[in-house]
This record gives sequence, C-alpha cells and structure tokens, in this order.
Amino acid sequence: MITGYALATLNALLNSCAALFMVLGYRAIKRKDKARHKRMMLAAFTASCLFLASYLTRMVLFGDTRFEGQGAIRYVYFAILISHVLLATAVAPMVIGTVVLGLRDRLATHRKLARWTFPIWAYVSVTGVVVYLMLYQL
Ligand code: HEM
Repeated sequence: MITGYALATLNALLNSCAALFMVLGYRAIKRKDKARHKRMMLAAFTASCLFLASYLTRMVLFGDTRFEGQGAIRYVYFAILISHVLLATAVAPMVIGTVVLGLRDRLATHRKLARWTFPIWAYVSVTGVVVYLMLYQL
C-alpha cells in the first residue's frame, strides 16, 4: 500500500531531479551547447510536471502534514513554506512561457524571460526539498 510518506519522498526526489537538470541545462547554454540545453530544460520541465501530478495525488489521498517543530524553527519553516508556495504559483506560467519561446526559436524574448524564470524555478525546486527535509527528516 502506498503511504503519504512514500509519495512525499517521491516528490522530493522529483524536485531534486528538476533542480539538477536545471543546473545542467544552464551549464550547457553557458557552454553554447544548445541541443543539450534543450534536452536538460525539457527534462527539468518533465520532472516538475510529474512532481505536480504526484503532489496533487498526495494532497487528495492524504491531505497536508503538520509541522511538529516548536520555537524559532517554526518561523523559519513557515517563511520557507509560504515563499515556496507563492513563488511556485507565480513561476508555473513563466516556465511554460519560457519553454514555448525556446521551442519557437524566439530567443531574444526567451533569454529575457528565462533570466527571471531560472532563479525562481530553482528556488522553488530547492525549497521543495528543504520543506520535505524539515517535515520528515529533522
Ligand atoms: C524553462 C526552461 C528553460 C529555461 C529556464 C531556460 C533558460 C535559459 C537561459 C537562462 C538562457 C540564457 C543564458 C544566458 O544568456 O546566459 C537560455 C538561452 C537559450 N535557450 Fe533556454 N531555457 C529553457 C528552455 C529552453 C528550450 C525548451 C529551448 C529549446 C530549444 C531553449 C533554447 C535556448 C537557446 C537556443 C538559447 C540561446 C539563446 C541565444 O543564443 O540568444 N531553452 N535559456
């Protein structure tokens, strides 16, 4: 039987994969390797889409998980969680726009939007893993 913890772990792994592919995609374009950049960014996009599907499944089946920490760590946790949720909502259409602009070869606009999309998306993916670690491993 699948558990809420197993799905949360899968979600953290998918977020880690998205962050890793993003870094590899960024490194590729800095080395002017456009084909690799495209592959890595589409892999990051796929990992994030799978994360979203798995996250929604977990929410429907198991609801959300309470953070049990007390004291100052509670403020740290909620500051990370709230910034993560707000930026995740904001970045979703930006990621789609950046991918579409890249695939349509509208590169000047792609670059302009990507400079915002990349750091926000990376922050969202990394804080997704941090929230998981604080909830389940600390
Ligand atoms: C959301 C996913 C993506 C992100 C975050 C992203 C990010 C970036 C960034 C930050 C740059 C500029 C690098 C720099 O100027 O220092 C760039 C350039 C580029 N991207 Fe993407 N990218 C994504 C998806 C794609 C896709 C799917 C393609 C498909 C072909 C693509 C093609 C390119 C190309 C060809 C350039 C070079 C543009 C130029 O030479 O002016 N990107 N990308």
